[in-house]
Amino acid sequence: MERTAAAKRIGILTSGGDCAGLNAVIRAAVHRAAHYGWEVVGIEDGTQGLLARPVRYVNLDVNRVDGAVMRQGGTILGTTNKGDPFAYPMADGSKKDRSQEIIGGLRELGVDSLIGIGGDGSMAILRQLAHIGGIKLIGIPKTIDNDLGITEMSVGFDTAVAVATEALDRLQPTAASHERVMVLEVMGRDAGHIALSAGIAGGADVILLPELVWSVAGVAAKIHRVRDGGRNFALVVVSEAVKTMEGNAAKQEFTDGQRRYGGIGNYIGHLIAEATGAETRVTVLGHVQRGCPPGHNDRVLASAFGVAAVDLLAEGKSDRLVAWSNRRVIDIPITDAIATYAAVDTDGTLVTTARGLGIYVGDV
Ligand code: F6P
Repeated sequence: MERTAAAKRIGILTSGGDCAGLNAVIRAAVHRAAHYGWEVVGIEDGTQGLLARPVRYVNLDVNRVDGAVMRQGGTILGTTNKGDPFAYPMADGSKKDRSQEIIGGLRELGVDSLIGIGGDGSMAILRQLAHIGGIKLIGIPKTIDNDLGITEMSVGFDTAVAVATEALDRLQPTAASHERVMVLEVMGRDAGHIALSAGIAGGADVILLPELVWSVAGVAAKIHRVRDGGRNFALVVVSEAVKTMEGNAAKQEFTDGQRRYGGIGNYIGHLIAEATGAETRVTVLGHVQRGCPPGHNDRVLASAFGVAAVDLLAEGKSDRLVAWSNRRVIDIPITDAIATYAAVDTDGTLVTTARGLGIYVGDV
């Protein structure tokens, strides 16, 4: 066993929306830390656990994280996508800077290094906290949306695509049996990566993305061509961030007062029915894209990221994000990663592939 001069205690947390593969990252980091003789503490519910007194955490060792953990969806640590510590929403409606409480929480835990698993919003917050608190931070990208710049793949994306593809596999026979047009609304805030990959893999006829302009006439023409060719059903995939014809985002207010995407599938389903006379049904896939066991690609990616993150700390590096590039893990400054938004490349291979397959992906 290698041992660095000073024994280390690393904090690890998951932040933002959950996705498949988070537990595989945690497992890998704990294994690699054990290799160096370091302790790992899992902070519960992201930064929320650090605001609590006593701090909410769990000691992690290889026995705790082996067995079922890697196979489980969600995160064994819990997570939150609310409560920016620099503008924390208080009960009286005011906002308070609680960053010092979080740093105090990290001190209480006795950690000088933190592995944060999150998307761009979480990374921006964790980076600021680490800077103020003098904590070494390594970030690991996760998001089903796969919209974090530089990394070709974020943890959770591959599994979300697999779920959406399976949904299309299940919609196809029922669509054919009833001669229907099936619309599947998938997640993606604000990029259409899930829709594009799942649409190609699942044999969709139409894929609507927020990155490309679409029209009812274009969608209807495709469905007419399908029918004219002798097929009695069609599959349409719509990314949740696609805009209405008036250019508005389809959003709904939730019980917490936040407006989130939802409704574009039904909107487009109605328009298709009107324009083509086809019997149309809409499925909104929602959070099943996030909560399932990770597929093998996410397990491998998560394992590679977890090991690499601990190795970076062992090399004395900080303020870096691990990323997947050209079949290997690289590390980049966190600022570079969050400064680059990875929307679907409208001239890229996947859009060209979709068009080459005759899929309607918007007007050219
Ligand atoms: O960013 C991940 C994501 O799953 C988006 O695809 C989706 O729009 C959003 O989170 C849903 O957020 P919530 O979990 O708050 O409903």
